[in-house]
Amino acid sequence: MRLFALLLLAGASLAHARNPLATKDQCEIDVLSMELSKDPAFEPLKKDALDQYLKSLKAHNVDVTDAIMKDLHLAMEELVFSSVQKAANGDPTHPKVYWTDTAARRHDWFGLSVPGGRYSYDNPDCIYRIVPISGQYKYKLKGRRIGKGTTDASFSLISNVNSQNTISTISKKDLKVNSDGTYEITINSDDGGENHLKSDWSAKQIFIRHNLGDWNQETPDELDVEVLGDPKPWFPRTNRSIINDAKDDLKQSTFFYGFGALDWKTLSVPLNHLKNPSQSQSLGTLTSQASSFGHFNIRDDEAYVITLSGGNSSYWIVPVTTMGLLTNDPEHNIVSFNSVQSASNNNGTYTFVLSAKDPHVYNWISIAGTPQGTVMLRWQGLPLTDGTPKGVNVYTQVVKFSKLHEVLPKETRYVSDKERKQQVRERLQGYQRIHFQ
Ligand SMILES: *[C@@H]1O[C@H](CO)[C@@H](O)[C@H](O)[C@H]1NC(C)=O
Ligand SMILES: *[C@@H]1O[C@H](CO)[C@@H](O)[C@H](O)[C@H]1NC(C)=O
Ligand SMILES: *[C@@H]1O[C@H](CO)[C@@H](O)[C@H](O)[C@H]1NC(C)=O
Repeated sequence: MRLFALLLLAGASLAHARNPLATKDQCEIDVLSMELSKDPAFEPLKKDALDQYLKSLKAHNVDVTDAIMKDLHLAMEELVFSSVQKAANGDPTHPKVYWTDTAARRHDWFGLSVPGGRYSYDNPDCIYRIVPISGQYKYKLKGRRIGKGTTDASFSLISNVNSQNTISTISKKDLKVNSDGTYEITINSDDGGENHLKSDWSAKQIFIRHNLGDWNQETPDELDVEVLGDPKPWFPRTNRSIINDAKDDLKQSTFFYGFGALDWKTLSVPLNHLKNPSQSQSLGTLTSQASSFGHFNIRDDEAYVITLSGGNSSYWIVPVTTMGLLTNDPEHNIVSFNSVQSASNNNGTYTFVLSAKDPHVYNWISIAGTPQGTVMLRWQGLPLTDGTPKGVNVYTQVVKFSKLHEVLPKETRYVSDKERKQQVRERLQGYQRIHFQ
């Protein structure tokens, strides 16, 4: 098995020479995750996870259609795999940089066909990478920015890999980068300094996100990690202990996502509304990030109109997700718009139309596959507040599709069928460029 993977890697490293995600470490953990995820111990836990999601939906009287059931089954497959992936890169004495919460379909590389490992409110703009950390040790994260880098990026030291809980964070604007694009971030319990993440006894993981605004131009940074000294593990990690860690992670994920994200954060918001943006440091959010959650049920002859202001954020996104909290094939469908991709109104706000039918509005988000779905808007790079961000707003309304023109701003940008095809084609090329080349 090992020889097989290494041979594949030798061939793959040439094919993927320019992709900063195609590393030897990625390949090794992909191989291990795929093997360990076959363990029968995950089947009953997958069922428990599904039951939790269903319980949350039923508690809020959501009609669980066949389509929702299908989305949930897909989401549970990815949820299980994500837990194995997190555990497989879970040894702080042998840390690796590993891409998780990956693409929305099987990933064919290194001669492998790696399943999707998304878990909760995946952001199709984002490349997320994780590094296991212990507060006892010192680490060095070495990076190299390619071109101008991505629209936004952050390096967060967190104490829980599911609820996150930020201990310290560095955002793109604070990162000091050398003129050749390289940089180094130190992670240890010493006090501050440039490019430093101060860790403590509770530190578990560095969670790194690169937000790509322009999918056809931006590339995530190259990253590599080193643990300093020669830390000796307390006990050797076996495949059995990785599986046990993955099982624990899956039980926790079931609660945090199936109840926390779905029920508590999302379904508690009235139907077809979005909650006022708020800042928090848990459940997938950064302290410098504001989020707004909601869920919708839109008929074929209706449209859901969202207008937002970006305030002084460095990046924002409007993504539509299923009741399983995953985007629906973001490679082929327009299911998200970010601060770089969208057409703005004259006063600097942005208006989006969510509908099953194409209204020929440039900022159209297709809900053909998800007439009942969820939304988690995100704004990043905001100053810290007591929870309520300034200058960041969102306003929603549901109208008859035929009356859309009455509520849309005069300056709304429209597209022809031909322009729509081009927009979809560019999205597809960009998605494939980032994830699969
Ligand atoms: C763990 O599983 C992998 C994949 O099946 C295998 O290559 C490796 O030898 C196993 N490790 C141990 C210590 O058994
Ligand atoms: C946004 O930034 C500008 C320029 O720094 C500042 O004047 C303004 O007060 C900021 N607005 C908000 C809402 O923070
Ligand atoms: C900005 O323009 C949009 C679209 O016309 C409108 O809905 C919104 O109320 C305006 N916002 C402000 C602050 O003027």
